[in-house]
Amino acid sequence: MAQFSELPGLLLPWYRENRRELPWRSDRQPYHIWLSEIMLQQTRVEAVKGYYTRFLEALPDIPALAQCDDGLLHKLWEGLGYYSRVRNLKKAAQIIMDQHGGVFPETYADVLSLPGVGEYTAGAICSIAFNQPTPAVDGNVLRVVSRLTDDPSPIDLPETKRRVSKLLAGIYPKEAGAFTQALMELGATLCGPNRAPDCERCPCQHICLGFQMGTADTLPVKSPKKPRRQEDRTVFILSCGSCFALEKRPDRGLLAGLWQFPNVIGKLDTQNALDVVSAMELHPREILREVEKTHIFTHIQWNMKGIYLEVAETGGDFQWFTADEINTQAALPTAFRQFWER
Ligand code: ADE
Repeated sequence: MAQFSELPGLLLPWYRENRRELPWRSDRQPYHIWLSEIMLQQTRVEAVKGYYTRFLEALPDIPALAQCDDGLLHKLWEGLGYYSRVRNLKKAAQIIMDQHGGVFPETYADVLSLPGVGEYTAGAICSIAFNQPTPAVDGNVLRVVSRLTDDPSPIDLPETKRRVSKLLAGIYPKEAGAFTQALMELGATLCGPNRAPDCERCPCQHICLGFQMGTADTLPVKSPKKPRRQEDRTVFILSCGSCFALEKRPDRGLLAGLWQFPNVIGKLDTQNALDVVSAMELHPREILREVEKTHIFTHIQWNMKGIYLEVAETGGDFQWFTADEINTQAALPTAFRQFWER
């Protein structure tokens, strides 16, 4: 594949001309690159922009992150999802303080050993922040390379990723950081997901085997997915005057340590719901309304029935928050915040 090695020469000038100005592209501080790459995992660029700026305003450096209060940390992440990302960020910041004298490590092995940092993120940080020839192979890059090489190997297989990573490592140019971002940029724009590629405007068209073979828009190939487990839940939005009941989720598992409206497995009918609330040592007064919502996680889908219910007095094993406190203090994940449309 002699042509493949022409990729940097084609992609770098295109990237210089066409790159989007994004908040994390204005400097190369490792803390900034690290934070942006963690936020961008599974999350769209447009969604990340505001979170990134707010996070850095609140926690401008690694020492601030290492010491920060968990409530603030969860609040800064509220709505982004995959909350283990932010817990790992703090853990990693503490390791950087304790083991690296507060300075972000520069070797690929040290970066890879930080909690929450896998091969993709380590490759992105080392190339973008430190200009090392370390590929960062995510879904965007796998799509670009499988089209360029007309490769029908399923991109979810670890061996496909390994092969692509090796192939790219062999052609990395001196401007390693720009090349990493150029690949991501092509994969996010002209060669983007869920639509036909815009080959007419692509700088790589004449070396692209997928274009030459007419297969580009059938690539990449993915293995068939297992269907998500479905789980029914009843969620109680319990009010008493101007206060609402919340409880903390357990420290482990899905949405660990975040706040939630009280909820139980299964979709309860009205009588059963009232019985459950009574068993919480509360006195139901009136059901105000019922609303159905769904929330999709990676491996599970919640099909939820939200019951808005006025109770006679506060109590039970809950904390009672005002609306303002729910808005400004409690990190309430999107699965539950959907019921909070005020
Ligand atoms: N997706 C993952 N990393 C990215 C980055 N640095 N810029 C834009 N999109 C990305």
